[in-house]
Amino acid sequence: MEFSILTLCYLVGSVTFIIGLKMLSDPANARKGNLIAAAGMTIAIAGTIFLYESDGEKLHNYGWIFGGLIIGGIIGTLAAKKVQMTAMPEMVSLFNGMGGACAALISIIEFDHIANNPVVVNPGHVLIIFAGLVIGSVSFAGSIVAWGKLNGKFGDFAFSGQHIVNIIILLVVVASSAYVVYNSDVELNESFLYGILALSLLYGVFFVLPIGGADMPVVISLLNSFTGVAAACGGFLYENKVMLTGGILVGAAGTLLTILMCRAMNRSLKNVLIGSFGASGSSKGAAGGKDQGQYKEVSLSDAAVVMSYASKVMIVPGYGLAVAQAQHVCHELEKMLAEKGVDVKYAIHPVAGRMPGHMNVLLAEADVSYDKLLEMEQANDEFPSTDVVLVLGANDVVNPAAKTDTSSPIYGMPILDVELAKMVIVNKRSMKPGYAGIENELFFRPKTSMLFGDAKKVLQDLVAEIKNL
Ligand code: TAP
Repeated sequence: MEFSILTLCYLVGSVTFIIGLKMLSDPANARKGNLIAAAGMTIAIAGTIFLYESDGEKLHNYGWIFGGLIIGGIIGTLAAKKVQMTAMPEMVSLFNGMGGACAALISIIEFDHIANNPVVVNPGHVLIIFAGLVIGSVSFAGSIVAWGKLNGKFGDFAFSGQHIVNIIILLVVVASSAYVVYNSDVELNESFLYGILALSLLYGVFFVLPIGGADMPVVISLLNSFTGVAAACGGFLYENKVMLTGGILVGAAGTLLTILMCRAMNRSLKNVLIGSFGASGSSKGAAGGKDQGQYKEVSLSDAAVVMSYASKVMIVPGYGLAVAQAQHVCHELEKMLAEKGVDVKYAIHPVAGRMPGHMNVLLAEADVSYDKLLEMEQANDEFPSTDVVLVLGANDVVNPAAKTDTSSPIYGMPILDVELAKMVIVNKRSMKPGYAGIENELFFRPKTSMLFGDAKKVLQDLVAEIKNL
């Protein structure tokens, strides 16, 4: 591509994606990073619409282009504004599925294009078309199933031998694609294309259906990386460098995130995809079946007193805080304690909640200052000097069985060592288990006291108590 203003637009787009992605790794800069990358994307899209030329001709179908942009823009904006924090993985999944569908559609259009212009056919081109078609449609179908499972529209579904059936479908898809690529000078039959498309969609559905609903964030991250690779195929086809860069970045980031999430849960990807403790109804009962003895409770007024007179309080937010939408009142409690001279910080476990960065986003929404958020390692260093730990709707991420019970499904998962503090107050609604379906020994330990109730209500009551002290 010779140098032109369009090339410059693509260069700016690519650079902003990289800068934006880098900034997303720090909560203080994440919002700005997102805007920078979005600005780069706008420049790349505008450049393509107004400056792109093929055989001396510019794009002309502006009605379709702007119609799509306006309708998509309105739907996207409304969906993002309306979405609840707990439904965020659902929305990410749906949007990711649309990316996969776009990549598959590009392949269908390009196939049609070369089938009608056999002179331009070359096997490399056909290979990329089929790679985009297969990966994009698996991502589309899988993401839609993940979305349906997360919002309760689809349940878990598996039949015996499903993994074998999946492998056979995948082999048929790969072999038929290879056949068309190998014979592309003679064989560009549309029925092959649509057959492979149908099998890829079926594979996407079968691949995601048996996976437990709570494991969906890991699967969504994996499907996200598929969409990135499929979009990169589109970049190859159109020799569009910004699409290629964007696709590769999404593919690489999605893969890394999938690995990090599995590592933080101490599970292999194979374990998530084949046999998961995230499958609904997979309760493992009491920890090791041991009798845990009695737990003790603390009253609201006692909890308010110990926190007000502490010098350091660490708040451990979990999924329950997000469900209760208690982030704002939690921030209020933090400010109130700070006014009393208490040093208040938050301990953030990498997989607290149900999606990467769930707690960071939740607390950012309530304007909690980023410098108050400690990552797991920092928090573990600070627990020994902490007077009171307030666990809010978190369970697995503070379960000591992860360190001590080799038979536990979470054995080996790094946890927040809240027991190193002088006192632990745990707020949840009952003694029911969390995501992993296992009982938590922490609740029965001598330093721990339970404070039952909905997180928002309990925090509101605590704030009221502290006001009166
Ligand atoms: P969980 O282990 O799921 O525990 C959440 C607890 O919140 C539950 O025990 C529940 O107890 C309580 N709760 C629910 N609603 C509440 C409310 N309104 N008020 C107060 N408490 C409430 O959560 P966690 O400790 O945050 O751990 C996250 C889990 O999700 C980990 O096992 C992790 O591996 C998994 N996971 C995370 C991710 C990411 S990336 N974050 C992805 C996939 C899986 P009650 O019912 O008794 O109230």
